[in-house]
Amino acid sequence: MKKILVTGATGQIGSELTIALRSRYGAENVLAAGHKRPALGELMQSGPFCCLDVRDLPAINQVVEANNIDTIFHLAALLSAVGEEKPQQAWDVNMNGLSNVLEISRLHHCALFFPSSIAAFGPETPPMDTPQDTIQRPTTIYGITKVSGELLCDYYYHRFGVDTRGLRYPGLISSKAPPGGGTTDYAVDIFYAAIKTQHYDCFLRADTQLDMMYMPDAIAAALNMMTADSRQLRHRNAFNVTAMSFTPQQLAAEIQKHIPGFTISYSVDPLRQAIADSWPRHMNDSAARAEWGWQAQFDLPAMVKDMLEKITLNSL
Ligand code: NAD
Ligand code: SER
Repeated sequence: MKKILVTGATGQIGSELTIALRSRYGAENVLAAGHKRPALGELMQSGPFCCLDVRDLPAINQVVEANNIDTIFHLAALLSAVGEEKPQQAWDVNMNGLSNVLEISRLHHCALFFPSSIAAFGPETPPMDTPQDTIQRPTTIYGITKVSGELLCDYYYHRFGVDTRGLRYPGLISSKAPPGGGTTDYAVDIFYAAIKTQHYDCFLRADTQLDMMYMPDAIAAALNMMTADSRQLRHRNAFNVTAMSFTPQQLAAEIQKHIPGFTISYSVDPLRQAIADSWPRHMNDSAARAEWGWQAQFDLPAMVKDMLEKITLNSL
């Protein structure tokens, strides 16, 4: 990784991954590509930035050629809840965007990171200890683009030798950029509500158990996976990775240990509840552990403590 392009760089993952890449590989070697130009901030001030629509193949080609890019972290996408509101646009951005980036990676010999998701599974998938290789029949447009993306990345590796790699992330929790319209967003929103009003009205049922991960682990997973010895990777494109698995009720109880007056209520959104109910509750990530040494650092108590400290500091 000498010259890196990050698409979707202003999003929840990109705004932290770009900074981590810049501190490891040199600020001038990591080009952040946003859909639209963000307000001045750490991302804009710490290194190069360009605007790029991933549906525009000639524009991606120009950026990659002009900057001698050899590695692409492809984060641009529409997430699960937004995807259900705009299914055609979700297919366009998620599939045509990925197809363009794969084609450019083939032409310019770039390595490619593609994040898949727990959404690549569906109601027929075993929900507990979800195996690495199992039935995948997702019922959301987002999930359909994730399974198709996993397969397309496998295809480009086997057919053209493109070094494609990826992870199936669970819901990600972070304190920098807000989440972009997913079903697991409640697990971030709850912290801001806890600090501001000591109350959160949750859009998922109290007992909705889902896999989750704190952003520092998600960033470490992407970096470690992309630098792992290629010969050790049997799965390559869609490693199950998880760090913790909890319900809104359990998350609220952990927050109450720090903010005793915190309360939670539930106004269930049928759309997002149906999405959550179709996803696994706890993935088996033994393939990632065995093939490239995956191990999470943050469990539920450690994540909650750190989130509350960071958000309190930021909101001072
Ligand atoms: P996000 O919504 O915060 O960011 C995505 C970015 O893509 C946004 O900044 C948006 O402006 C950009 N974008 C949208 N359309 C675009 C287009 N046509 N061209 C260029 N950019 C465009 O999402 P995120 O949470 O940072 O997720 C990044 C990736 O990780 C996605 O592929 C997502 O599916 C995956 N993922 C995220 C999570 C999570 O919990 N955040 C979990 C699993 C997988
Ligand atoms: N966190 C994402 C979502 O809820 C899962 O990929 O859409």
